[in-house]
Amino acid sequence: MPNFPAVDPIPLPAPVWLMKLLHILTLALHFVAVEMLLGGLLLAILFSLFRSSPSARVAARAIAKRLTVVMTLVINLGVPPLLFAQVLYGRALYTSSVLIGVYWIAIILILMLAYRYLYSFSARLEAGRVAWPVGLIAWLLIGSIAKILSTNMTLMLRPEAWTKLYAASAAGRFLPTGDPTTTPRWLLMMTGGFAISGLWLLYLAARSTFTAQEKTFLAGVGGKVAALAGIVYLAVGFWAYSVQPDFVKAGLVNNSLYHYFGWAGYLWIASVVLLILLGAVAGFSRRSGALFSWLAMLIAFLVEASLTIFRDAVRDLTLLGKGYDVWDRVVVTNWSVVGLFLALFVASLGVVAWLLTVVARASKTMEGAA
Ligand code: HEM
Repeated sequence: MPNFPAVDPIPLPAPVWLMKLLHILTLALHFVAVEMLLGGLLLAILFSLFRSSPSARVAARAIAKRLTVVMTLVINLGVPPLLFAQVLYGRALYTSSVLIGVYWIAIILILMLAYRYLYSFSARLEAGRVAWPVGLIAWLLIGSIAKILSTNMTLMLRPEAWTKLYAASAAGRFLPTGDPTTTPRWLLMMTGGFAISGLWLLYLAARSTFTAQEKTFLAGVGGKVAALAGIVYLAVGFWAYSVQPDFVKAGLVNNSLYHYFGWAGYLWIASVVLLILLGAVAGFSRRSGALFSWLAMLIAFLVEASLTIFRDAVRDLTLLGKGYDVWDRVVVTNWSVVGLFLALFVASLGVVAWLLTVVARASKTMEGAA
């Protein structure tokens, strides 16, 4: 049985179930933002190529401008799950992060570069200049961050690969090879980007900032993209599941706790089917409106939340099979600190929601003045 580093002697200050709940909630929100960024950017790049279509030009500009805000959400919504993951899985996650240290640290640099190119993409579109090359650079950089994260989140589950990787470079210069789960998992996030961004366009199609013609364009293209990408997303989801080890698949059915989490897999399939149906109805009828907009938001959250729960079960069962039980921790709950944390957490979500409405109102005013 492979060895994990010794557990931290300091007890957990809150129950494992609470840490997991907050971890899953914040990670699901991170994933919604990540998918909007990955898919939305590529769609904006494609729209920017259709320079003769006024609606495509407006859509490219509108998405690009919003993506700079979405990037902020990606980063800020990535911090809480990182903290919870370190508390719950630190012995595995710290080890894998150190083993690919050069790439792990490089994320910060790549992120700053991607941000810079994202702003440049938006500015060029606003100025009516050719923008796709800088947009593509930003997308490649962002996709490579996703690849490093998928690599780390799968390497943390393979203690049997750690010694060899450390022997190859103690400085963390190499990425691991030979894990059949890494690529499908990364591609699942990449294809999910199109599906969720299709829903995002449906949401945008109901905004009053757009003309009737632009709304029809956004609903038509967004719906069709969601429907088509949803089918590919389902296929990649089945692939990512099929490459999991047999003991993990068995645990998702038989384990007394994790078979409940296994149901999240069915919820994910049902949500993606809903996504495809909504996309097809909106895409082919080219209709938009408040109902489509709300349904799009709800389905986007359901898809990512169910995926996050299922993914969590896959991780716990994989680690359990290798001797790491995430529930086996000494917990000494400090309820006053937990209470304060929860109050601040809810307040900060409220502040983020308020900030988003301020940004939306400000851009509406600026668009009206332009
Ligand atoms: C452009 C920037 C980013 C992209 C494209 C991105 C993308 C992703 C992807 C694709 C995954 C899933 C990996 C997998 O399991 O296969 C992931 C997980 C994660 N990301 Fe991000 N991410 C970005 C930025 C960040 C930042 C800045 C943070 C933290 C400050 C962060 C924190 C996390 C954490 C903690 C997880 C996994 C948590 C877990 O498994 O428990 N991400 N991200």
